[in-house]
Amino acid sequence: MNTPTPAILVTYGSRHGATAGIAEEIADALREDGFAPAVVPAREVTDVTPYDAVVIGGSLHAGHWNHDALRCARRNAAALAERPVWFFSSGPLDTTAEQEDLAPVPGAAHAMAQVHARGHVTFGGCVTADTPGVVARVLVRSGRAGDFRNPPRIRRWAHRVAGELRAHPGPAAAPDHADA
Ligand SMILES: Cc1cc2nc3c(=O)[nH]c(=O)nc-3n(C[C@H](O)[C@H](O)[C@H](O)COP(=O)(O)O)c2cc1C
Repeated sequence: MNTPTPAILVTYGSRHGATAGIAEEIADALREDGFAPAVVPAREVTDVTPYDAVVIGGSLHAGHWNHDALRCARRNAAALAERPVWFFSSGPLDTTAEQEDLAPVPGAAHAMAQVHARGHVTFGGCVTADTPGVVARVLVRSGRAGDFRNPPRIRRWAHRVAGELRAHPGPAAAPDHADA
């Protein structure tokens, strides 16, 4: 008998769209691996029980993980704890996320512990001339803005998540934490 393909939710908290783009990239890679993920903004997620696994991401602003993503993790904590869950963060406007394993900020780390998340990765972020806000404008003017999301790296991580999910579909933590 064939094992049914796990239903995956990819959800994200994004202020200006950069993290939404990462979520879409992750979902695309999961589709290549035979999954049919739903991609839903974190603030719209009221129930994760229709899904067998969840990827949840949030952008970093002033050292904090996105509030929508945090609230989503909190209000669904009990159900998330019974499913395989991976976290990602979107932040640094440089390549540090590719050079070292950047730990989740405390809010995200706490949420991860609550739901027994299998892993976390930080991807580079994106601020461009189209990003609203004073800080974004300053970053652009000073030449410190840019798109550091690195789609191939995002896709590699998503493929790793897909592999872990196929190998260990249950809620128990997999041995490998799928760092990119
Ligand atoms: C006002 C502001 C504050 C930011 N603070 C941080 C930060 O503390 N740490 C970090 O790594 N990136 C920081 N960034 C970069 C963002 O996390 C990055 O651009 C991210 O990809 C934005 O995603 P979003 O558009 O989905 O919100 C900041 C960007 C802005 C505009």
